[in-house]
Amino acid sequence: MNTAPSFKLLFVCLGNICRSPAAEGVMRRVVVEAGLGETIHIDSAGTAGWHTGKRADERMRAAAQSRGLELTSFARQVRDADLSEYDLVLVMDRSNHQDIRAFDREKLHATKVRLFCEFCTDHEETEVPDPYYGGPEGFEKVLDLLEDGCAGVLRHVQGQLKSRV
Ligand code: 4NP
Repeated sequence: MNTAPSFKLLFVCLGNICRSPAAEGVMRRVVVEAGLGETIHIDSAGTAGWHTGKRADERMRAAAQSRGLELTSFARQVRDADLSEYDLVLVMDRSNHQDIRAFDREKLHATKVRLFCEFCTDHEETEVPDPYYGGPEGFEKVLDLLEDGCAGVLRHVQGQLKSRV
């Protein structure tokens, strides 16, 4: 049996210790609940490498924990190969969108990079705000946006998988 995942999804923020690890955790839960844990591969990365190897920020982990989510990832920086290997790259804000262009050296993959908030249906925001220098409400806001958008991302990926059959 071929168990290779058929869709690869990468979440990207600046440091890969707040927003994108939380997105990875929320999306993993959504995907497992949909029975697609073996089909959809999920990872996250940062456009900056400052926090490489670190667990998610403890404030983000605590906020996620209070919603029953354990964030287990270790930070890594985006690699050039990510742009060719992943099917969909979801960035948290426009600055990430700008910065990730540097990793797409041949300029071949721009269409697979999308703003995460395009997939939100219950929020008006167009970016997931960086919570790093703010208070606890910022981390809750991130999770609210992620829970909304990840449901939309699942619907989108399910549509993509169907159209491939
Ligand atoms: P993230 O948040 O991009 O959501 O992981 C940040 C984490 C660290 C820093 C900025 C934003 N920093 O300046 O170190």
